[in-house]
Amino acid sequence: MEIRMDGRNAIITGGSLGLGKAIATEYVRSGANVAIIARRQEPLDRAKAEIEKAGSGKVVAIAADIRLAEDCDQAVTRAEAELGGIDILVNNAGTSQRGPFLDVSDELWQDDLDLKLFASIRLCRRVIPGMRERRWGRIINVLNVGAKMPGAEGAPTAVSRAAGMALMKVLSNEGAPYNILVNGMLVGKIRSDQWERRHAEDPRDISLDDWYAEAGQDQPLGRLGLPEEFANMACFLASDAGSYITGTAINVDGGLCKVV
Ligand SMILES: NC(=O)c1ccc[n+]([C@@H]2O[C@H](COP(=O)([O-])OP(=O)(O)OC[C@H]3O[C@@H](n4cnc5c(N)ncnc54)[C@H](OP(=O)(O)O)[C@@H]3O)[C@@H](O)[C@H]2O)c1
Repeated sequence: MEIRMDGRNAIITGGSLGLGKAIATEYVRSGANVAIIARRQEPLDRAKAEIEKAGSGKVVAIAADIRLAEDCDQAVTRAEAELGGIDILVNNAGTSQRGPFLDVSDELWQDDLDLKLFASIRLCRRVIPGMRERRWGRIINVLNVGAKMPGAEGAPTAVSRAAGMALMKVLSNEGAPYNILVNGMLVGKIRSDQWERRHAEDPRDISLDDWYAEAGQDQPLGRLGLPEEFANMACFLASDAGSYITGTAINVDGGLCKVV
């Protein structure tokens, strides 16, 4: 099986770092053009230069805060202007936001929902009409295992992710007659810039490799996942290879989630 995405145009939110950057790289390697969206210009510029080395596809870096409706709208307008109609949307941008329920203020709830739910709603609303016209589309919501297996102190993120999973299912049902396939990917623990920031904050004198080895000890496979392992699934789902898969939330978590 060969996975190709030649000529497809993709938007990847959070494409400047971590999992989003790995997905964008794999998409370009497979022949797609990509628009990566994040807030900070400098990591965006660095990622664009890196991703461009993977293939001949066009890479557009768009600075936007997707918690804001107008930024979502402008980002899609710019991606369409630079690439053409959007075939693939990966709703990936996110932050780790969790704590004891009584400590989560209305502001934190709103912030989390704006980033992880409303951004996806607004971006999907913008790209679906074009996908319908062309009768081809792929949407992937990057979620986490808390969507299926919420734990104590999992708010607000587990709630936002469960909502993202329900959104995925609704859109898959509405998208199927138009060949718009919509799926979720549930992250467990995967190496990314997010984890590297945690390593930098660790007061101990411990190398990143040793730190990752320690962090992986409680994982079923004994290690964290690699961003490329996550990107492989995102590539499969967004390509013609994944043409009969829709409405599914796939755990890409090395067996961490106890719920299928
Ligand atoms: N890696 C894991 O183990 C893990 C576990 C559970 C869930 N996840 C989820 O997987 C996704 C990717 O995680 P990651 O580990 O790759 O994170 P990461 O390395 O921290 O990257 C996050 C990306 O999202 C962007 N972003 C954050 N807030 C944004 C906003 N308001 N508007 C636009 N872009 C924004 C960041 O860029 P700027 O900061 O410049 O905006 C960055 O490009 C996230 O949704 C995360 O919650 C990951």
